[in-house]
Amino acid sequence: MNEMTDPTVIGQRTPRVDGEYKLTGRAGYTGELHVEDMLYGYPVPATIAHGVLTSLDVDAARGMPGVVDILHHRRVPKLYRSPNSMGHGDQVSEIRLPFEDERIHYHGQYVALVVAETFDQARAAAHAVVARYRQEDDARPSLLLTDAEGDLLEEEGDSRGDPDAAFERAAVTLDETYCIEAESHLQMEMHATLAEWRGKRLIVHESTQGVVYQRNALARTFDLPQEDVEVISHYIGSGFGNKLFMWPHAIATAAAAQLVGRPVKTVLPRQQDMLTAGNRPASRQRIRLGAERDGTLTSIRHDSTTETSTVDRYVDSCGGATPSAYACDNVAISQRILPVNHGTPCPMRAPGEVSGVYALEAAIDELAIALAMDPVELRLHNYAQHDPQSGLPWSSKQLDKCLRSAADRFGWSQRDPGIGAMRDGDEIIGYGMASATWSAGRQPCEARVELRADGSVFAACGTQDIGTGTYTIVAQTAAELTGVPVERVDVKLGESSLPAGPLSGGSMTTATTLPAVAAAVRDAVDALKEIVTKPEGAFAGVDPDALQVRDGGLASEDKHISFAELLAMHDVASVNGKGQAAPGGEQEEYSFRSFGAHFVEVRWDPGISRLRVSRVVSSIDVGRAINPLAARNQVEGAIVMGIGMGILEKLEYDPRDARLMNSNASDYRVAVHADMPEVVDVELLDYPDFRFNEFGARGIGEIGLTGVGPAIANAVHHATGKRFRTLPITVDKLVEALG
Ligand code: MOS
Repeated sequence: MNEMTDPTVIGQRTPRVDGEYKLTGRAGYTGELHVEDMLYGYPVPATIAHGVLTSLDVDAARGMPGVVDILHHRRVPKLYRSPNSMGHGDQVSEIRLPFEDERIHYHGQYVALVVAETFDQARAAAHAVVARYRQEDDARPSLLLTDAEGDLLEEEGDSRGDPDAAFERAAVTLDETYCIEAESHLQMEMHATLAEWRGKRLIVHESTQGVVYQRNALARTFDLPQEDVEVISHYIGSGFGNKLFMWPHAIATAAAAQLVGRPVKTVLPRQQDMLTAGNRPASRQRIRLGAERDGTLTSIRHDSTTETSTVDRYVDSCGGATPSAYACDNVAISQRILPVNHGTPCPMRAPGEVSGVYALEAAIDELAIALAMDPVELRLHNYAQHDPQSGLPWSSKQLDKCLRSAADRFGWSQRDPGIGAMRDGDEIIGYGMASATWSAGRQPCEARVELRADGSVFAACGTQDIGTGTYTIVAQTAAELTGVPVERVDVKLGESSLPAGPLSGGSMTTATTLPAVAAAVRDAVDALKEIVTKPEGAFAGVDPDALQVRDGGLASEDKHISFAELLAMHDVASVNGKGQAAPGGEQEEYSFRSFGAHFVEVRWDPGISRLRVSRVVSSIDVGRAINPLAARNQVEGAIVMGIGMGILEKLEYDPRDARLMNSNASDYRVAVHADMPEVVDVELLDYPDFRFNEFGARGIGEIGLTGVGPAIANAVHHATGKRFRTLPITVDKLVEALG
């Protein structure tokens, strides 16, 4: 491995290379695209959550101006369910095909798709479709509104030692249940599909976190060879997991385009986006802890239940981080899923673990209080110096430094542990903290690079930039390894026909993609060296290994010639390099995780019943940050999302019939500018993890969200003396509990 120990472009704050396109409106998002002869699709959502579609009258709608066709369960081309395998890369978000039958499984399920000449005509006709239903009265509205247990998933369990016996023997115990309401991704850009058939070939523009996955899944669904499907996604207005895998609107739109023989574009309205395209499922988690008087943890049990839908089996594994979190000999986790009548849940930023870390870190805080120990000290006392579940050493773990550094910057030592003991005028101040953690993953990846005669470098990979800065870090990588400036690197992503790249998910994109791009650069440079060291070449007689890449050219002991000049001298338009990279033997030698710590100050003003998160101080250990500007931005955004999870965000389902009541961006509350703390102080520790890859980078998208929720809940307890065990801690709960 070529450890990048002293980079000059990697690790530098680098403005986004696509920033100008976005600011000037030239970046084409799927919903804005237009092709010749294009029609508009508009879905008709079911208005019940559980029952049967008894009749569907489309005649009036069919006769309205501009309407070309209406798809429904009796009028749909032949479709096939995708095998839905993560391993084969054809995973979908919902296994049920659109318009399969008359059963209604959730509010918003599509019962028809209207296709018309204009968007307004399609929408007007969709409202004129008359659907009648027989509603069944045993709809299940939410995990948190039932005592039902759910199905135990044996394969999601992990254990060591004998946690039950250790719990019985423990001097101090805790047994509490923690819940989190379902959340919406509420990503800025709506889900959108533009599907076009060219003969037997299907071309789909989609706002997706995985062009290759969606290509594979569409090939399965329409029974096409993969090479006859192309999925394109050049710009994405974020996706926090709800754009990882294909949803029914994409299938319905491609089916419509096939049926009518013209391109069709569907942009989901916000309401349907929230109803049908994923949510973070509600969770209920029972935590049992046992400890000795000195704080030594002797037993951890973490038993979780999360929601799925009745048409798929989505598992939000809450216990994933728990077995590795603390040095404790006796640990067990279990996972259940409970089908409810919602649109199918899906991953949402740090899926499963963000919920699990909330429950565990809130419980650790409660244990610290029971032991009369400082919560930071309790965590350090049970510090896992190696991964206690696998027994492997950590590749790199700086959690202790995160805890100490964030505590210092926050002023934790000024904390008076007494409940409500800290005041500022009318406000009661609470301090809380929690650890953050997220797994570090990596997958196989391919890339292609060209050194071009005009002096530019071209780099391509079939991954995508979901708004997090992938274009920029790929450009930085090519710039680092060629000495060509970042502005002269031309990056192409977001096309399924490019060399296969990863999902933009699991915080894996950086660690997965950059080593493949680096390999492709080296391959291109080697190809150039071979040309220029031939007998007629510019470096004839020089050993290729003695040629150095420097400042956008090759250098021997006595001369430097730029790539552009070299290509001109040898009359070549470009040289190509291919690269591939994959995780290897290191996976058996080390455990890979990222770590962090959040310290939060809340202010509770009992006179006006106002709770604010007023300060957040975080230290994050993700190895090296490739672009600290974008990396910090990821953590800051995650903290804002964590404030939403802690005190605001909640999908509200009607307990009578399971219909979603706040499927819009005004009734579903997220943190806005007015909710932002005065201080968000993010520190990125810089300990490159070269055991993971040559860049030393573990990825940063999700870690920042883990730990924010419990730090807030712990701070609220410190301020108010009330332990709220269900997130979000909304004002109405505070008022009810505190009068
Ligand atoms: Mo993330 S939930 O893997 O997009």
